[in-house]
Amino acid sequence: MSLSGKVALVTGAAQGLGKAFSEALLKRGAKVCLADVQSPLGEATTTEFQQEYGKDRALFVKCDVSSVSELQTTFTKLLSEYGQLDIMINNAGIMDEHNPARMVDINLTGVIMGTNMAVDVMSKEKGGQGGIIINVASTAGITPRAFFTPAYTGTKFGVAGFTRSWSYNPYVKKMGLRFACLCPAFTATDILNPMGTLYPVDAEKITQMIGINEIPAVVAGFIQLVEDEQCNGAVMTITAQEGIQFYKKPLALSKM
Ligand SMILES: NC(=O)c1ccc[n+]([C@@H]2O[C@H](COP(=O)([O-])OP(=O)(O)OC[C@H]3O[C@@H](n4cnc5c(N)ncnc54)[C@H](O)[C@@H]3O)[C@@H](O)[C@H]2O)c1
Repeated sequence: MSLSGKVALVTGAAQGLGKAFSEALLKRGAKVCLADVQSPLGEATTTEFQQEYGKDRALFVKCDVSSVSELQTTFTKLLSEYGQLDIMINNAGIMDEHNPARMVDINLTGVIMGTNMAVDVMSKEKGGQGGIIINVASTAGITPRAFFTPAYTGTKFGVAGFTRSWSYNPYVKKMGLRFACLCPAFTATDILNPMGTLYPVDAEKITQMIGINEIPAVVAGFIQLVEDEQCNGAVMTITAQEGIQFYKKPLALSKM
């Protein structure tokens, strides 16, 4: 899919992976609405992108994805500025085992609400043009080995299950939509703070042992998904040891 002229909404875009995803989309000709709860940083990132790619190509909206009304306002502002949505990236997330309820609200409920609102705007059956919805989970969302982040793992399992479930929806083709789940392993961003885990010493040791992705490796996988017209249902993992891989879908339930 050519990204020229497409419109994207990226949550958690002020820094880290969301910022890098936004720039990759801008470089390929898309317009990007950057949504983040961090206001000054999100504005600074957006100004940086406007200077590089053009004032009309990037828009910042302050948005806490755990708030229905803030998410709704974000979609309203995006549509009034750009008139369409083709690429939805539910990326915002935190890792804070000491505040599990907040983590569920952001990592899981935020993704569910962001996806459902995007479906309403993007579905061809509702007047949209179709497109792709990518939800950012984690390798923790398909392999429950990180004993130091059990609640985070739970939220990411939720994201993977939710996204895959949408991809099996028989009406997806008619809607013109694709759903994919991006599952990076440890990646060099601020979220890798051992203090957010239950066992910081173990977390640090295991992270170093497994290895840490550089951001560009994850961006390469991300762009592959965005551009692949056949990616509906894809669950892509990206690890420092094995790079990009696809998680095999289990057999579909035969009667469905
Ligand atoms: N870095 C990793 O090791 C890694 C691995 C697997 C998955 N992930 C996932 O990638 C995504 C991006 O994380 P990152 O690594 O770039 O971390 P990061 O901390 O650098 O970026 C997270 C961004 O989300 C924003 N955010 C936090 N709460 C928010 C809220 N309520 N509403 C809107 N925005 C909010 C932050 O302000 C920040 O800009 C997360 O979902 C994370 O779980 C990260």
